Amino acid sequence: MKSTLIRGGTLIKADGRLRADLLCRDGLIAGIGAGLTHDADTEVIEADGCFVMPGGIDPHTHLQLPMMGTVVADDFYSGTIAAAAGGTTAIIDFVGPERGQSPLEALSIWRDWAGKAVIDYGFHMTVAWWGPRFAEEMEVLVREHGITSFKFFLAYKGGLMLADEDIIAAFLRCRELGALAQVHAENGELIAFLQAKMLAAGITSPLGHLLSRPPQLEGEATGRAIAMAEITGVPLYVVHVSAAQAANAIADARGRGVKVTGETLPGFLAIDDSVYRNANFDFAAGHVMSPPYRPREHQEVLWRALAAGTLGTTGTDHCCFSREQKRLGLNDFSKIPNGCGGIEDRLHVLWHLGVNGGKISAEQFVALTSTNAAKTFNLWPRKGRLEVGADADVIVLDPARSKTLSAATQHQNTDFSVWEGMAVKGVILHTLCRGDHVWADGDLRAERGRGLYLGRSAFGHPYEA
Ligand code: URP
Ligand code: ZN
Ligand code: ZN
Repeated sequence: MKSTLIRGGTLIKADGRLRADLLCRDGLIAGIGAGLTHDADTEVIEADGCFVMPGGIDPHTHLQLPMMGTVVADDFYSGTIAAAAGGTTAIIDFVGPERGQSPLEALSIWRDWAGKAVIDYGFHMTVAWWGPRFAEEMEVLVREHGITSFKFFLAYKGGLMLADEDIIAAFLRCRELGALAQVHAENGELIAFLQAKMLAAGITSPLGHLLSRPPQLEGEATGRAIAMAEITGVPLYVVHVSAAQAANAIADARGRGVKVTGETLPGFLAIDDSVYRNANFDFAAGHVMSPPYRPREHQEVLWRALAAGTLGTTGTDHCCFSREQKRLGLNDFSKIPNGCGGIEDRLHVLWHLGVNGGKISAEQFVALTSTNAAKTFNLWPRKGRLEVGADADVIVLDPARSKTLSAATQHQNTDFSVWEGMAVKGVILHTLCRGDHVWADGDLRAERGRGLYLGRSAFGHPYEA
């Protein structure tokens, strides 16, 4: 029987804290209490002065994804290695069928790719096209494969964007099946119009990306998605909320009882739109993602929305490319592969800016990085909590230690970091994933393929974020 004792730390849960030892045995949390005894062959981690918390759950990643004429830089091995080094013990990635492709067939491809993951993983399904076959297969996905969340794009006209008519039909199907609807909310028609306008005006640099995706287009699409969800009666999750208008639309809807919640990303809390005005193409293009980084005044609104519970989760939207890949859009910003990295940095950045910065408590940090995602995506009570019987997904953070984030030292498979040079205080020394000590203060011990697939059950009862 394999066991690890984390001794003398302060356990932080979403609803409180206590000073206690924590014993992991055979992949589960087996004991919590003062002065726990252990066997001679138990590994002991001394956590005096440290915080012991549930491993991060990243509900929004894109590993190995073919996209915009290339494939993202991190596969399920390098990406999950980076996640483990940054304290994330489970991810939910997106399966992306091609137009007309069977979602079940796409799932089997993604399951095959994900076989090399070192942490546990589940999937959302992107509704990349709509028709009777997709609707039929959704039932099999939910009932037999535990895919219980479906993502819809209101942006990317001519690609992933669906017509409202199809979204409404698919939302109804989600409702029938007890599944959660997710939206990428930006107005794709107006973005296409503005992109053409920028290019016609000779604006080909990454600045055109910013100028063609103003925040009111995110606010409009968020409001429209909420209206479709409200009328069809499906619970809604808005991914990567970046704009105050979108956060406010979610807050208003929640105020009148609509079942909607949202996620934001650390980058939207700290990086502003000035990055697109930088004359260095590699730097500016390295920040091209959708929605784009916003003017600084949006950040305070997002922090308040996190603290108030309007936005219940943080993800990374990890979708990273090398500088070389971003150069696909050297002469046309609309061809720059969209996405940034961050799977390794989320917890460090959020602790540093959020907890050290006095924006959120350590308990809220746990809720926002782990517990709420587990509840929202039906991984609860197995994951996202420090209780006897839960999976032993545990991290140990030393609040006194500091480090500097950089592409040169990251495990993410790219030569760029949006966090380049940022010094963070509060370092994750240990990551345990189902009891396996996969990250030990710089030592990566994760075995390729040790991650398990996480099927999730559908909602048989009202959605509670
Ligand atoms: O720019 C982004 N966010 N890339 C990933 C795909 C998506 O829209 O989530
Ligand atoms: Zn998106
Ligand atoms: Zn995404």
